[in-house]
Amino acid sequence: MQQYHPPIYVLAFCTLLTTLVLIFVGGLVTGTDAGMAVPDWPTTFGDNMFLYPLSQMVSGLLVWIPDDLATNLGQGILTKPIQEALNIDENILSSTSTVQVVEKDQAWKIHDPVANRFYTILRQEDRLGVYVHGVLFEHSHRLLGTLVGLLTIATTISIWIYNSVKQLKWISALALLAVIIQGLLGGLRVIENSIVLAIIHASFAPISLAFFTSLVLLTSKKWSQSPPTTDVSQVHRLAIFASGLIYVQLILGAILRQTAQHLSAHILVAILVAMHIILIVRRVFLDMQTFSGFVGLAMLMGSVVILQMALGIGAWYSEFQLGERMPYMLRTAITSGHHFLGVLLFMLSFIFTLDVLRHPSGETTSSGLSELGQIKSG
Ligand code: HEM
Ligand code: HEM
Repeated sequence: MQQYHPPIYVLAFCTLLTTLVLIFVGGLVTGTDAGMAVPDWPTTFGDNMFLYPLSQMVSGLLVWIPDDLATNLGQGILTKPIQEALNIDENILSSTSTVQVVEKDQAWKIHDPVANRFYTILRQEDRLGVYVHGVLFEHSHRLLGTLVGLLTIATTISIWIYNSVKQLKWISALALLAVIIQGLLGGLRVIENSIVLAIIHASFAPISLAFFTSLVLLTSKKWSQSPPTTDVSQVHRLAIFASGLIYVQLILGAILRQTAQHLSAHILVAILVAMHIILIVRRVFLDMQTFSGFVGLAMLMGSVVILQMALGIGAWYSEFQLGERMPYMLRTAITSGHHFLGVLLFMLSFIFTLDVLRHPSGETTSSGLSELGQIKSG
């Protein structure tokens, strides 16, 4: 009997899909500069994060302050009473913050350059509501992170109970470990208010994704059957190298996004990535045409890399040339789209790599990976 349990596969698949949504929302958190929108962790503004009201998540209300502070705000300067009014729990407003009048007597904006946070203050009846920018994305990202954690626990437990393949059990345990580390890195990034940790958190995300992708492939029906014996070893090294290059590119992208530095390295690696994907597409069309799966995947990678290069140029133009002059929504869409497509390209290349490695090479009859999905259940 072969190793295929549909419920485990579905669970692994749901975990992967939720992770992709989580990564997309993570990109929006960075894209909207909302990394420090919620200044504490694991609590949210001092409360249990699961009980944080949905209404406040949408509006991002931080606190109500007395109406008479409007006079201070109207002068466009940060006075002591305003600063004190905003110093609540973990939230400390730096004295270098600036105040901007958006609408006379009605709306003001405060920017704290130290924490890189924006506050919007709105007059509402006889009091002023202080709203923090980006709470919706940041808090949804945390909740989704928790959901991914729970789904991973369920997948791992199911695999340990119902699947006897030792390697698969260990991969599921490592996936769980990866998600715990990823969550901790996210939390520490907030507690420490650290850009370095934001980069590490972003760079570790594809590793978690790679584990979930492996679990989906290894628990799938296709992987429970023997792969065709055709030799595809000529593309093994190319596939591994392309995946490695894309991963390096994601790290360079994270550094670039957080620090606006090393653009030239990012462009150089982008060219290398594109070249390697072209080589893969060429190889697949020359030697592997009979495998419709590989052809489809290679074509998809080719299309994604073209779109990604175009979005990269768009991201460069919007962030490094136009800046504030480009509409905020468009800028966010381009940079977040570029982030997500980059991660997607990594996932596709990783799937391609695992799939070619599963096929036995010319000399051996069966590779380690091909055995993984097929070992009989006990
Ligand atoms: C499995 C769990 C998680 C995954 C896969 C994940 C993934 C990501 C990704 C891909 C980004 C975008 C990075 C970028 O664009 O540079 C991000 C951003 C972020 N994540 Fe997570 N995350 C997870 C859990 C968490 C948790 C539990 C927190 C807790 C607070 C968190 C806090 C953040 C913050 C603050 C950012 C914005 C970083 C910044 O730009 O300053 N994440 N996450
Ligand atoms: C294979 C091609 C490429 C891949 C896989 C890729 C991937 C990425 C990723 C994943 C990010 C965001 C990282 C994060 O937020 O954690 C990023 C950022 C960026 N990339 Fe690329 N990139 C590619 C090509 C390019 C090209 C050709 C350019 C420009 C000519 C470019 C310009 C940028 C810029 C300007 C940013 C920062 C955007 C911001 O500040 O929000 N990229 N890249």
